[in-house]
Amino acid sequence: MKLSIEKMVQGGVGFSRLPDGRVCFVPQALAGEEVEVAISKESKDYVEARVMQVIKPSPIRIQPKCPLYEKCGGCSLQHVSLESQVLIMKDIVKETFLRIGKTALPDDFPIFSTEPWHYRHRARVVKDRDTNQFGFREEQSHRIISFEECPVLTKSLNSFLHLESTQKIRAQELHCFDNGSGRVSYFYKGMKEPEQRMFSDNLVSIGGRTLSMDASVFFQSNLSLLSTLVDRVRFHAEKGDWLIDLFSGVGFFASLLEDRFSRITTVEREPGCLRHAKKNLEKKAEQVTANAESWLLENTKSTPAVLIVDPPRTGLPPEALKVIAEGKIKKMIYVSCNPVTLARDLFQLKNSGFEVKAVEGFAFYPHTPHLEMLLVLNRG
Ligand SMILES: C[S@@+](CC[C@H](N)C(=O)[O-])C[C@H]1O[C@@H](n2cnc3c(N)ncnc32)[C@H](O)[C@@H]1O
Repeated sequence: MKLSIEKMVQGGVGFSRLPDGRVCFVPQALAGEEVEVAISKESKDYVEARVMQVIKPSPIRIQPKCPLYEKCGGCSLQHVSLESQVLIMKDIVKETFLRIGKTALPDDFPIFSTEPWHYRHRARVVKDRDTNQFGFREEQSHRIISFEECPVLTKSLNSFLHLESTQKIRAQELHCFDNGSGRVSYFYKGMKEPEQRMFSDNLVSIGGRTLSMDASVFFQSNLSLLSTLVDRVRFHAEKGDWLIDLFSGVGFFASLLEDRFSRITTVEREPGCLRHAKKNLEKKAEQVTANAESWLLENTKSTPAVLIVDPPRTGLPPEALKVIAEGKIKKMIYVSCNPVTLARDLFQLKNSGFEVKAVEGFAFYPHTPHLEMLLVLNRG
């Protein structure tokens, strides 16, 4: 079947309509293209289709660099240059904010980017039992894809994954982290504590600080662009008496802002983060291991000068959103890895009086449709 692609939508996929009116999502197709497709998934409201042939290619289409592009699915936008990817993501984010957040973002909101290759310092890989090598899981299947060199992983991670000693690690799944200064650490489920200290712990230099972390907990994976995010958060946070860092991981934002605030509270639910947060933050910080929403419910009168939230892809839990909306907090910095849940939460926050003071994007994951966003929200 032939289709004309109208526009790009969330997930970096092409959007079209079938003759019967159903919407059709076409991965790897670009706006303005004419493509021959085969339907891969069908429901009563929408259809997904695979490109069989590009009949009329878009002028921005390029040859993907990675030989595994068709199979792996990790870098689904490799068929356009980084500059075009950024423009595509900007349009998608603007459309998402308008549709879900009922908010028009300024046309010229900045999107920061850096090196498009070998940028990824963190990876989760799985073992292929037949070859004993670690690789990526093929999209929507259980097959494992081995690779000689993944063009988005750092050179150190690529080398590490091909070491004989790495292949001898007896684990189904491996989390590895390159600290950007020559040390790759790793973690797998069932790793005992002494080994964890030896093999998983790591130190990362960022924003003039050296932070403790380990490969089992969350840490941003694009270290070169992370310093720009840190600069922007420091710029927007200014200074004040009390900072709350919710979803704080190893105390990341709080530790990079502790010179600006006299009181600091961090809230993170993963117990493994606490020993690092204790090293990363001075004693004055109150470090809580709890669900952000439960902590907020018990501390509804908390009114910090600045509240930073950096939740997972699911966005703010409804209880947390309710406490924030009904409380007196005047300034919030919302860092998000998912524009859809960010737009959803923004809609509610605006209804409770918050206004968008600044919006910025960070192309942390070139060649993927993911964009990290920073919103600064103020309330009168
Ligand atoms: C996107 S990461 C951000 C971590 C940190 N701000 C950083 O930049 O390194 C989200 C963090 O929230 C934690 N988390 C997820 N759900 C949570 C919840 N309901 N309450 C508290 N922490 C949560 C995760 O364990 C993870 O460390």
